[in-house]
This record gives sequence, structure tokens and C-alpha cells, in this order.
Amino acid sequence: MEIKTYLNEQRQLVEDRLAELMLEKSGDFSKHIESMRYSLFVGGKRIRPILCIAGAAAVDSREEVRTQALSVACALECIHTYSLIHDDLPAMDDDDLRRGKPTNHTIYGEAGAILAGDGLLTYAFDLLSSQATKGVDDSTRIRIINTIAKAAGPLGMVGGQSLDMLYEGKQVGYETLRAIHRSKTGALITASVLTGAMVAGGSAEQEAALRTYGNNIGLAFQIVDDLLDVEATTEELGKPAGSDAEADKVTYPSLFGVETTRTMAREAVKEALTALENFDAHADPLRALAHYIVDRKK
Ligand code: IPE
Ligand code: IPE
Ligand code: MG
Ligand code: MG
Ligand code: MG
Repeated sequence: MEIKTYLNEQRQLVEDRLAELMLEKSGDFSKHIESMRYSLFVGGKRIRPILCIAGAAAVDSREEVRTQALSVACALECIHTYSLIHDDLPAMDDDDLRRGKPTNHTIYGEAGAILAGDGLLTYAFDLLSSQATKGVDDSTRIRIINTIAKAAGPLGMVGGQSLDMLYEGKQVGYETLRAIHRSKTGALITASVLTGAMVAGGSAEQEAALRTYGNNIGLAFQIVDDLLDVEATTEELGKPAGSDAEADKVTYPSLFGVETTRTMAREAVKEALTALENFDAHADPLRALAHYIVDRKK
């Protein structure tokens, strides 16, 4: 399959659904809603929502299942966008460019950006417990919400971000670095694929396979993000290249050099593909996404 076409089509579906689900600017909270919308609609590859859609399709390719997954997918993008807004804050990575535009705090101030993140995170769970899971049976609904909460929370993305900050400027071994990458980035990516499968009514075996797939592409995704920070330009990335070195972060290239790092990303993708062995052609988008994750240029 042609991955570029697939990504463009799915991205458009995500954008359209996000526009329907997101709060409109009005009344007393206009400025706050504007700040949330600024970061959400400023661009972005929409990989997590697309993984959710592709995870659902691998299990059940019917149109109505995709429509249902699309709403859960949008909540995931809200959480991801919040994580980027907070990641860029002066107290964290202190970056001034994101998705090709000035970062949220440079426009709305630090307090505004913190609150934009808080708003997006909380609104995601509002959506997940209402419109985004309407029509999904109650027990699955609760599993979806819990899976995403765990992935985003203290033992997932937020926990990983706390380790990322804790180890800035320090020596870190391979195991610790891998654990940081798995939690700060891998957890939400895995949850994206898994919750797609849950919407589609996947079996325990299918969920287990997709968890392995997610863990591996999630790790690969952050390894490649580290690589791009070294190899790509600010213009290509739409965020500051060289940010990791400047903040003295431990990354895969800093530990292993770029060649070995690329090999490690490819190994992880190979394992992800092996995990899909028992899926038919409906899992081809997941296969193509795995390749895309290591080959991407931004
Ligand atoms: C960037 O994520 C942050 C990481 C977890 C590496 P993306 O590379 O998916 O950023 P957008 O959403 O496309 O802007
Ligand atoms: C961020 O990792 C992971 C998140 C959970 C947001 P990075 O700090 O490397 O992400 P970028 O490079 O700023 O997008
Ligand atoms: Mg960071
Ligand atoms: Mg960063
Ligand atoms: Mg990075």
C-alpha cells in the first residue's frame, strides 16, 4: 500500500472529526479555548490517532468500526498535544518552535500554556467518557478509558517525562534509557493501537499481539525522534533540531552513535512486524506504519 496516500487520507479524517469534537471559542473561556485550539490545529502528523484507526481496522475493517475508533483517536491526539505543550515549557525542554509555529507558551504565556495542556488532557477524558465512546458497551468503554489513563499517567507518559527531566545532564545506562523511551513515548503509542483494537472487539490474543507491536514501534518512534534531532534541520522538523544536545539529554545517538541507533530502531520494527504474523491484509496499514516510523524524515 502507498503509505503517503493512506496517511493523508486518515489525517484528513482525524482533522475533520477533531473539528467536530473540539470546543469552539465562545464566552468567558474564549482565550483558554483559543490556546488549546492553537496547538491542536497547528499541524502534526496525527500518528497516534492513525494508529488507533489502523489498530481497529486490523481487527474489524467495517466502516462503522472505523468511525467509532476515529472519536477515540481524537481524544488521544488531545492528550498527545497537551504533552507537547508541557514538554516545550521553559521548565521542561524550553523550546520555542513546535509544528512549525511558535510554541504555546510563547504566544499565551507560561500560565496560559500550562492551562491549555490541562484543558486538553481533561477534555480528552470528558470526550472518552461521553461522545467519543457512545455506542461502545460499558465494560469496553471503561477498559478504553483506563488503558489511556494508565498510558498517559504516572507509570506511563508523565512518569517517563519525569525521568527524562531527572536524568538531564546525568549518565544513564541502556536499560534506563529504554525504560524512559518506552514510558514517555511508547506508552501512549501502544495505548493508541490497543484502544483501536478494543473498539473493534479484539480477542485477548489479538490485544496481546498488538501490545507487542505497539511497544516496539513506540520505542522505535522515540529512537527515531532522537536521531532526527541530530540529523534533520529545524526547518524539516518544525521544531528545534539539536534541542537534546543543548539540554544535555541522554539519547540513543548520544549513547550508541547514529549508525547503531538506526539499526536498533530497525530491530524494534522487525519485532513489531513479527507480532502481526497472525493478522491478515487488514493489518497492512499497521505494517506500513511500522516501516514509516523508521523511514520518516520528520
Ligand atoms: C513528538 O511527537 C513527541 C514525541 C513523543 C517524540 P510527534 O513526532 O508525533 O509530533 P507531531 O504530533 O507530529 O507534532
Ligand atoms: C517528548 O520527547 C515526549 C513527550 C511525551 C512529549 P521529546 O522532548 O524528545 O519530544 P520533542 O522532540 O520535543 O518533540
Ligand atoms: Mg522532552
Ligand atoms: Mg522536547
Ligand atoms: Mg525529541
